[in-house]
Amino acid sequence: MGKSYPTVDDEYKKAIDKCKKKLRGLIAEKNCAPIMLRIAWHSAGTFDVKTKSGGPFGTMKHPEELAHGANNGLDIAVRLLEPIKEQFPTISYADFYQLAGVVAVEITGGPEVPFHPGREDKPHPPPEGRLPDATKGSDHLRVVFGEQMGLTDQDIVALSGGHTLGRCHKERSGFEGPWTANPLIFDNSYFKELLGDEKDDLLKLPSDKALLSDPIFRPLVEKYAADEDAFFKDYAEAHLKLSELGFADA
Ligand code: HEM
Repeated sequence: MGKSYPTVDDEYKKAIDKCKKKLRGLIAEKNCAPIMLRIAWHSAGTFDVKTKSGGPFGTMKHPEELAHGANNGLDIAVRLLEPIKEQFPTISYADFYQLAGVVAVEITGGPEVPFHPGREDKPHPPPEGRLPDATKGSDHLRVVFGEQMGLTDQDIVALSGGHTLGRCHKERSGFEGPWTANPLIFDNSYFKELLGDEKDDLLKLPSDKALLSDPIFRPLVEKYAADEDAFFKDYAEAHLKLSELGFADA
């Protein structure tokens, strides 16, 4: 989409391909796709368009950023990933965490999200408070995703479908339970459940429910519930944008 990516040499490209295979193995073995998608998203989602700070630049490994309330539990992802990272010292953490997110979606049956290497690690973590608050509604989502990250309303709904994977953990976020009956499969069931009745064993966060009451968000929820291909297409586009916030901009 008009971006001009940095050139990386063949050695680096080879390392990325090999690393991708190792990540597939790790994620399959440990069933850890959900937390891998979460670490990639929480890395990228701190980007601020106005100051060009934050974003997918490898800062999540810093204890300071891991200590942000929104990142509770992501130390587990850092720890799981470290033995693979050690095998690829030339790959930046910035590329590595985003690659893990792309592989997590792919290996659970989701769309293939294009991956462009060449992000550089930044030395300083972003300030706390840039990730969305699950107790808030549409206005807040538009401030965080729209005004701060520079993403669209369609991106907000498509990316919310990331909750097709994984669950909430009481000790991490205060919420408990999965969004779907198959939290290790990437499909459009998040949107189907969101439109359906509340169930004892499944959860909807206030920020998920906000998608239902908004006149622009709701038709997209309905579209993605009815048409998985449409969801996969828009999700892949939105995930790609998320993973490249602040990267390769003109
Ligand atoms: C729209 C705003 C969002 C809010 C308020 C939000 C909030 C949350 C919360 C509270 C949790 C539970 C964490 C825990 O207790 O372990 C969670 C988990 C998760 N989120 Fe989000 N999220 C949002 C958007 C996203 C996006 C854009 C993605 C990815 C595209 C995503 C992917 C995930 C995944 C995969 C998990 C499960 C992690 C696991 O099972 O360990 N979320 N989210």
